[in-house]
Amino acid sequence: MKKLETREDIEQLVNSFYTKVIKDEKIASFFTDIAKVDWEQHLPKMYSFWESILFGQMTYKGNPMGAHFPVNEIKAMEQEHFERWLELWTQTIEENFAGENADLAIYKAQNIAKLMAFKMEIARRL
Ligand code: HEM
Repeated sequence: MKKLETREDIEQLVNSFYTKVIKDEKIASFFTDIAKVDWEQHLPKMYSFWESILFGQMTYKGNPMGAHFPVNEIKAMEQEHFERWLELWTQTIEENFAGENADLAIYKAQNIAKLMAFKMEIARRL
């Protein structure tokens, strides 16, 4: 299995991930109906986000948490949605990559998802 080591690898990973996401009954609507994502803008951001996390190339400048609050206000982002997101992310990685960075990409996503789920829940109570 291939190692996850270049920007091209990340592009392939992110593209394959969103191919699953937009077909997914549980979470597609956040992207297609609620945020009506502009993919030409969103995908390069995601490449840079993961490049920053995995390779320490600080190409991502943004607020990953902040982007989700407006979405959460329209439709609650709940535990089950984060679980599904993580399932698809892990599946996509395991189908295509192996090694330290592949493991790290799963581990980091789990941590960020946990924190994000918590922040979204708190925001809904305010
Ligand atoms: C249920 C889970 C999730 C849903 C439904 C979701 C949905 C979205 C949506 C709709 C956007 C906005 C796109 C736009 O307006 O163009 C977005 C942006 C983003 N998401 Fe998520 N997301 C989820 C979990 C995560 C997780 C776990 C991570 C990180 C590991 C993440 C990282 C990002 C990043 C980096 C952005 C771009 C922020 C920016 O604009 O700079 N998301 N997400």
